[in-house]
Amino acid sequence: MIVTTRQGEERTVEGDAGLSVMEILRDNGFDDLLALCGGCCSCATCHVYVDPAFTPVLPPVGPDENDLLDSSDHRRDNSRLSCQVSLTPALDGMRVTIAPED
Ligand code: FES
Repeated sequence: MIVTTRQGEERTVEGDAGLSVMEILRDNGFDDLLALCGGCCSCATCHVYVDPAFTPVLPPVGPDENDLLDSSDHRRDNSRLSCQVSLTPALDGMRVTIAPED
């Protein structure tokens, strides 16, 4: 995955399939992604923007995720909660940008 931080720095990180994007970001020390609820889809502090090229192979946005994203002032068409996206081989090379803090 290629990750862009809030400061605009870009870093390539590796992650195992099956882990969530949030877990991979956390394990790689991206501290600006708070992920306060630990991945149970109740905080929206793991908000990221995903490269639209990967939208067709992402899991669909669930109702809870959709509601939480709606509470963000920074929602875009390619917004996702990173704890709700598990890494699969189809997502190899995906670009992810950490969204601004709400
Ligand atoms: S970590 Fe809380 S919603 Fe993703």
